Amino acid sequence: MKTLLLVVASLQLCAAYKILVYSPGMSNSHLMFNGRIADLLIKAGHDVLIYKPELSERATTNGSDIARMLVVDIGVKEKWAKISEMLDDILFKGSGMGLSDIMSFQKLNIETCEAQLKQKDVMDILRAEKFDLAISETMEFCSYGIFHHLNIPSNIVLSPGPLMDYMSDAFGFPAAASHVPNIMSGFTEEMTYVERAKNFFAMIAFKYMGRYIASMTTQVFRDHYGSDFPNVYELLGRSPLVLVNSVEILDFTRPVLHKLVYIGGIGMSKPKPLNKKLTKIVESGKKGTVLFSMGSVVALDKAPLEIKSAIIQALAKFEDYNFIVKVGSADKQMAELASNVKNVYLESWVPQVDLLGHPHVKAFITHGGQNSILETVYAGKPVLTIPCFGDQFRNAATVVRKGFGTRVLSMSALTVDSLTAALHDLLNNENYEINARRLSRMLEKKPIKSEELVVKWTEFVAEFKQLPELESYARQLNFLQLTSLLIVFDRYATILIVLGFQSMKLSFA
Ligand SMILES: *[C@@H]1O[C@H](CO)[C@@H](O)[C@H](O)[C@H]1NC(C)=O
Repeated sequence: MKTLLLVVASLQLCAAYKILVYSPGMSNSHLMFNGRIADLLIKAGHDVLIYKPELSERATTNGSDIARMLVVDIGVKEKWAKISEMLDDILFKGSGMGLSDIMSFQKLNIETCEAQLKQKDVMDILRAEKFDLAISETMEFCSYGIFHHLNIPSNIVLSPGPLMDYMSDAFGFPAAASHVPNIMSGFTEEMTYVERAKNFFAMIAFKYMGRYIASMTTQVFRDHYGSDFPNVYELLGRSPLVLVNSVEILDFTRPVLHKLVYIGGIGMSKPKPLNKKLTKIVESGKKGTVLFSMGSVVALDKAPLEIKSAIIQALAKFEDYNFIVKVGSADKQMAELASNVKNVYLESWVPQVDLLGHPHVKAFITHGGQNSILETVYAGKPVLTIPCFGDQFRNAATVVRKGFGTRVLSMSALTVDSLTAALHDLLNNENYEINARRLSRMLEKKPIKSEELVVKWTEFVAEFKQLPELESYARQLNFLQLTSLLIVFDRYATILIVLGFQSMKLSFA
């Protein structure tokens, strides 16, 4: 027995890679996604360190209980608290996040990057680990510079949701603004002329914003480490692999490169039985129970009174259903509003996966964060989304397009009437449930499990380090070359086209 154990242990040693997971404390959902990746790799025998620079006070989790952790206060929490407040304002009063809001978010990311580079001792600790591979999300560009600075020979890019346009640009994915909606647009792939125009300009705007922010980030590295430090946009674009937290059947169908792998649904836990209190609530709804949760970033307790009141009034109209609404434990306004409403139950802690898995839970009302959408699809339950910012608008459009639910256009468009109408639709359109179940079964039968893809691709990349074989030459071309417009508008174009047709005729003859 002892020798067998020794053999197993040494086998593991051979294959074990040292992996850094860069996991900035932006929000709990991001930390948890990064943690799931780390856990999978640890269970496959690798040595994983999660480096978590602390940013937002609200991002409290480490994401993993089994990974080695390096948690560092880099002195930016106050600035991040201000951004969180700004976000609360946009969510409930504005019409989504504009370019200028994204810019202030990204400027803070650059300050955060600088604050990290100043922690020389932390950089030294990380360098001394001699990692084989590093993994990082693509919310900003700092990580790619850090990995280069630390001499880590290989890295993997994680996309927390569907690809952002600047990422497509950095990697050289075919641009497809005609039928791939921008991540913040809320369009489906079927767009009117005006929508296509908006989508096209959004793509251009995001692309140049990405390049601009990358160049500012690059400057930070050049100030610290010399003027020959490579452009971080180039470092991102050269990354050998992109793991996307979505699944093919959910994302809008789009052209991709071979280096993109869909891994949505990793580490999703199986539903466990509910506690007595929740079971009683769930099972006492005459026609069923609906879960209402806006996730961890959207602080419903900060919503203006009109929105809270509209929510409770709308839910009260559907007496045959019970509603479990996730609220902050200190939200006195909601408690007061719901105090006389029999079918609304306020809870400060909801086990989302377990609730969605219960057969009496009939539907889910959510902000439409990527993980919530994936969880509801796994459970096969119809959804009503109320998108607030970022990719939630596109996720909401996906739900409509794939036919497993409906939406209120945005949090600021939420009124008693709009929510009532959407809820009526959600609870009475049978197709939503049929489609949700179909998607759920498709995920279950997915030919290769996401967990297996993560582990095998990570090991592949760790072994071969860089994969120039998978690089797209599109990265070397400018817009006119890439779209062939240079040829179409060339003055010799007519001659070329005529010659082209002739040679075609010849080869057909
Ligand atoms: C996160 O990790 C740090 C460092 O190991 C530890 O001190 C802290 O208690 C952990 N936090 C949570 C919420 O587990």
